[in-house]
Amino acid sequence: MKFDRNILITGGAGFIGSCVVQFMVKKYPNYRIINLDKLTYAGNLENLVSVEGESNYEFVKGDILDQPLVESIMRDKQVDGVLHLAAESHVDRSITNPDEFVMTNVLGTLTMLNAAKAVWNGDFDNKLFYHISTDEVYGSLGETGAFTEDTPYDPKSPYSASKASSDHMVRAYFNTYDFPIVISNCSNNYGPFQFPEKLIPLAINNLKTGKPIPIYGEGLNIRDWLYVEDHARAIDMIFHNGKPGETYNVGGHNEWKNIDLINLLCDIMDRKLGKEDGACRSEITYVADRLGHDMRYAVDSSKLSGELGWEAKENFRERLEETIDWYLENESWLENVTSGDYAKYYEEKYG
Ligand code: NAD
Ligand code: DAU
Repeated sequence: MKFDRNILITGGAGFIGSCVVQFMVKKYPNYRIINLDKLTYAGNLENLVSVEGESNYEFVKGDILDQPLVESIMRDKQVDGVLHLAAESHVDRSITNPDEFVMTNVLGTLTMLNAAKAVWNGDFDNKLFYHISTDEVYGSLGETGAFTEDTPYDPKSPYSASKASSDHMVRAYFNTYDFPIVISNCSNNYGPFQFPEKLIPLAINNLKTGKPIPIYGEGLNIRDWLYVEDHARAIDMIFHNGKPGETYNVGGHNEWKNIDLINLLCDIMDRKLGKEDGACRSEITYVADRLGHDMRYAVDSSKLSGELGWEAKENFRERLEETIDWYLENESWLENVTSGDYAKYYEEKYG
């Protein structure tokens, strides 16, 4: 079959990547979507069951650091667009193991750039390398204001430093080689299929299994939460209509103090689990703060709304409730990812 476009998505078995893969496979039957993922602890093919048999979807198990592999995929499949999401993504893991973040996020991105540059070989017509990044590159805010695309980079954790470094490298390829790139920097995502080391699924899983909810420090840190499908829609718009060389911030205009968010989640969970009012809140336990913990993130996405017409449209309370339902209903998914058994799924399916 001849496809209108051949798009390589890296990290498509992760939380956001699997949402983007499903979104693109379903919305664009005339695009071939190739998902390259190493299937680290965070990558799970169970996230992609809904697209497994689709004729415009292909999965390749592999490492973004393997340049010959990336080049051969790009040549064989005539890839004209890259959506680069593969990364190590958890701040706490970056504090205990920064080296891995430099390998994957910095050198992995460099390898992807070099592979695409070699394969496209100066013919950049209708080509695009889209690098998906984070608002954490801008550092931490005080009580007011929001990150704009002009906010100076000031990353504070090994994770955000590695993402900032990869953003700089992507921009350097645009400036130096006219290599066609676009970057977006997004705030905290939530939704189904998020690995339960991140705050929201961790809290749900702990309450479900009778464990306390660890809140770092005093729980006063603020994050700007966006439903993952809103992010996938933004990625689709930026990929198709973003201006090469530009950066777009993506955010939810939805700031929550950690403790307020967890209190809300606990109240919903009381209802869902048939517990008496306040039972889940009593599981909140304040623990030692994250080292170098950023205080507040808030994203100004007016450039994206003004230029491309994107708005976060999902209602936070409704989507949070739906997200909680999803984790409660998908018990085996949670058990598999927490036990590591999801790796067996790949073995059984692909040998
Ligand atoms: P995730 O940890 O859920 O998934 C990462 C995926 O990348 C996994 O499937 C993993 O197997 C894959 N991967 C890791 N190393 C690889 C390698 N060397 N080769 C191939 N694949 C590899 O991450 P996520 O939360 O879905 O984040 C995806 C991207 O979006 C990341 O670049 C992250 O920095 C960015 N981002 C995340 C958020 C968020 O709230 N989660 C917000 C803004 C930006
Ligand atoms: O802002 C975008 C970023 O959001 C992404 O780039 C990252 O990949 C993603 O992991 C997320 O980073 P955070 O560090 O903000 O997310 P996390 O869910 O780890 O933590 C959210 C907040 O909750 C943060 O202030 C730390 C706090 N926290 C987290 C955990 C895991 C707790 O209080 N207790 C916890 O157990």
